[in-house]
Amino acid sequence: MMDIMEYYAPTHVYFGKGAENKAGEVLKAEGASKVLVHFGTGSVKKSGLLDRVELAIKEAGISFVELGGAVPNPRVSLVREGIELYKSEGCDFILSVGGGSVLDSAKAIGYGVYGGGDVWEFYCGKRVPEGTAPVGCILTLSATGSEMSDSSVITNDEGEPTYKRGCNNDFGRVRFSLLNPELTYTVSKYQTASGSTDIMMHTLERFFHSGHTLELTDQLSCALLREVIKWTPVALADPENYEARANLMWCGTLSHNGLMATGNSTKGDWACHQIEHELSAEYDVAHGAGLAAIWGSWARYVLDTDRERFVKLGEGVFGESDPVKTIEKFEDFFRSIDMPVDIQGLGLNFDEAACENAALGVTFQNARTIGDFKKLATEDICEIYKMASGLK
Ligand code: NZQ
Ligand code: ZN
Repeated sequence: MMDIMEYYAPTHVYFGKGAENKAGEVLKAEGASKVLVHFGTGSVKKSGLLDRVELAIKEAGISFVELGGAVPNPRVSLVREGIELYKSEGCDFILSVGGGSVLDSAKAIGYGVYGGGDVWEFYCGKRVPEGTAPVGCILTLSATGSEMSDSSVITNDEGEPTYKRGCNNDFGRVRFSLLNPELTYTVSKYQTASGSTDIMMHTLERFFHSGHTLELTDQLSCALLREVIKWTPVALADPENYEARANLMWCGTLSHNGLMATGNSTKGDWACHQIEHELSAEYDVAHGAGLAAIWGSWARYVLDTDRERFVKLGEGVFGESDPVKTIEKFEDFFRSIDMPVDIQGLGLNFDEAACENAALGVTFQNARTIGDFKKLATEDICEIYKMASGLK
């Protein structure tokens, strides 16, 4: 018998050309009177998006205060600044204008404002959020799915080593997401490819799990992967191709809003994400690129756990029934979009000690295992890092 399935997707989504122009109206409907407008390191200023959004907010009779500076792999130090600014300015809403990093930072500010105390405690597992200040977003990059996910990932830059931790909680699902694929036209080739890899991985992580699922979910997963494989090269060759950008954006949203795990008896594997987060925490690499660099090694390491699952994936995505060839086909795709398929490709040189150190970081010094398709302890993760570093 199937366990009880839970699917919760409360975010109000507006998708299509000009969606961002609804900002004023939607914020007004939310009852916002003063908005903390949060953004990154410049792309939304350069594109003129920030000016347009702020004008729309003003025209709706709402005031605002700006907080820029969220960097890729967003830092807790800016989150703390945001919490103070929100309070001192008497804000009552947070609007994220940018990619996943800005949005994750906005979510963290929301937790900190509501919960008080040290916001990092929500990320290191000491406290669970019991609410949030309201957050909405205008998304400019198709990748993380943060626009509908329950997740926020923050890097603690306040000591050595640097930690990157996620907080998964339903309060992290934003009130609204304004999704205009045209806003992603200016995303660089590298970030486009890295984003597409992340989108694929959010479905692959859910596809590989230890229990049963619904056939529909498997079919949806394979369709989503096929679409990302189809449209990413189109977007890379023709960045202003609306069809390509729209398909990628919606794939990104659906890949991480829970839909691709409906009917699954677990939430999925997620080992690759944990193994990658250690890399982006310590070496500040782009998250999607880090995932591409380790997925093939992970796949080869866990293949014998359930080869049939790989057969199903290969047949659904490539019409390929040989599991080893399926892994190679994913890697060929990553190569074709200039994503790395090993750690050297990230510009890093890992020796055995670096592999061991990173593996210990992933398991919090042997305090946990990761993975659901196959449970992985420090030694297993170390092997995967070694395979991805050409040491095996
Ligand atoms: O800072 P700006 O100037 O905006 O530039 C950004 C940044 O340099 C740029 N960019 C964004 N939109 C653009 C643009 N450049 C030109 N035109 C546009 N329209 O792209 C660069 C990367 O942005 P970032 O927000 O860091 O990328 P992404 O959306 O991939 O977010 C990555 C972060 O999200 C986390 C990752 O670990 C990483 O920290 N994740 C969040 C998840 C979630 N909340 O559900 C799930 C993921 O698995 C992931 O872990
Ligand atoms: Zn991801």
